[in-house]
Amino acid sequence: MLNDIERTLFHEQTILRRLDELATQITADYLGRDLTVIAVLNGSLFFMADLLRRIQLPLRLDSISVSSYHGGRQSAGVVTFEQASLPDVTARHVLIIDDILDTGLTLRAIRDRLLNEANPASIRICVLLRKEKPRAHELEADYVGFDIGNEFVVGYGLDFDERYRNLPFIGVLKPEVFSAPSPST
Ligand code: PRP
Repeated sequence: MLNDIERTLFHEQTILRRLDELATQITADYLGRDLTVIAVLNGSLFFMADLLRRIQLPLRLDSISVSSYHGGRQSAGVVTFEQASLPDVTARHVLIIDDILDTGLTLRAIRDRLLNEANPASIRICVLLRKEKPRAHELEADYVGFDIGNEFVVGYGLDFDERYRNLPFIGVLKPEVFSAPSPST
């Protein structure tokens, strides 16, 4: 697996040090409030597990699963919710956690649906990575681990073709890996 990585962007210890800072900030911001975290599966799994164990609050944890189809043009994206119902967050302070903010399609759809249908007291967004690029879908993240360039990253939950999520650091794939056929199962 390591042979497929062109270079490391963030080592595991660098990620965990940044999570210490994010958790301290989130703990202070939500002190005395009833916090519900909603993790967006699957990409946020490792980030969520490491971040939440650093937050010193008795938070609730829920999750949401969506499929995003960006289509030929980024502005034509469609997000399909896999669950029949949304988490119950009525009057609760919600923090949505995801691994990466790219076009904004996924998180905007989740935020808007929760706002319109679930009556939360508030909604904020926390991402590990934010791509620095013009976004087709208006969305601001409230907590950001790292800003990155517009490149294809894998590891620490992020996948290419559903693989490499278990890489313990975040790296950039070698270009030849993109063009190679998927290994047979
Ligand atoms: C990835 C990632 C974000 C989304 C970001 O999810 O986890 O949810 O894309 O892209 P966007 O800002 O352009 O919408 P993906 O649909 O690949 O599913 P995954 O979480 O299972 O990897």
